Amino acid sequence: MPQYRSILALGLATTGSLVAAAPCDIYATGDTPCIAAHSTTRALYDDYSDALYQVSRSSDSTTTDISPVKAGGIANAAAQDSFCANTDCEITTIYDQSGKKNHLTRAPPGGFKGPADDGYDTLANATGAPITLNGQKVYGVKIEAGMGYRKNGAVGTATGNDPEGMYAVIDGTDFNDQCCFDYGNAETSNTDTGAGHMEAIYFGTNTAWGKGAGDGPWLMGDLEDGLFGGKDAKYSPEDPSITSRFFTAILKGEPNHWALRGGDAATGDLSTYFDGERPDGYNPMHNEGSIILGIGGDNSPNAQGTFYEGVMTSGFPSDDIENKVQADIVAAKYATSD
Ligand SMILES: *[C@@H]1O[C@H](CO)[C@@H](O)[C@H](O)[C@H]1NC(C)=O
Repeated sequence: MPQYRSILALGLATTGSLVAAAPCDIYATGDTPCIAAHSTTRALYDDYSDALYQVSRSSDSTTTDISPVKAGGIANAAAQDSFCANTDCEITTIYDQSGKKNHLTRAPPGGFKGPADDGYDTLANATGAPITLNGQKVYGVKIEAGMGYRKNGAVGTATGNDPEGMYAVIDGTDFNDQCCFDYGNAETSNTDTGAGHMEAIYFGTNTAWGKGAGDGPWLMGDLEDGLFGGKDAKYSPEDPSITSRFFTAILKGEPNHWALRGGDAATGDLSTYFDGERPDGYNPMHNEGSIILGIGGDNSPNAQGTFYEGVMTSGFPSDDIENKVQADIVAAKYATSD
């Protein structure tokens, strides 16, 4: 095609106005590609058609993979319902869609043990969080106390003082005050190795380290040995209590700079809750690059929450890229099923 046409096509693709783009396609246009992409509800790349997650059924302990109904589509919940008919199913694996094989599986014991006989955490009930996307039934990951997922030895995640970004779409009404319903970067040893050795989204009403405005729940950064709604641990009045049923939680960090952003995942725009310097004692970062879901970095397993989709990126995403990701999340039409 003539060169002026290519430039025009590129312009349309990067503005996203006429070209459909899923969250990880959008992050790629900002040179902050996804290095992990997890969801039981939908594909996070337009061309992704492989397995989203694996379930195991109690009747015969066999497993099956649940894929999108089409490339870039929502999860085939009917396949899960058929496989799990008249028995219980657990989510055994949440596959990484980024191609880096950063799959989340049952979290091992660390500083804290999980409730399973081997000290591991337990697995989420595969039918624990039914919702709809654009009117079609899908399932989230309902984390109760004792449940957790982890990927040690993750590939491509930020280590040391590397910049990174992440978001998670969660249930803004499912939380408790325990430690810690997290999604993000954590220790490789499953133990607490000190301040700055984590950078993860936290959601809930834990006030052991700090709090935001009102009674919570709050989005905070779990930076290890502290939950932060801003630069100071104790009280961050700009960090709001969250009231929406579906919530987009965003955290990003780079040398001596980090930010917390959020918004209703079903409507509207993101707001910036904090954008500034890292807390005292937390610069430089000492990220270790494991990935956790539903637990603290030392496997503290007593929190609860519900996860629908989330990614981690290489590089510090711009607000503009995140705003486009939020628009795609809203367009996916998260809604309750009842
Ligand atoms: C899983 O969730 C479903 C739906 O809420 C419930 O009927 C079932 O008893 C749960 N199974 C377990 C093992 O908790």
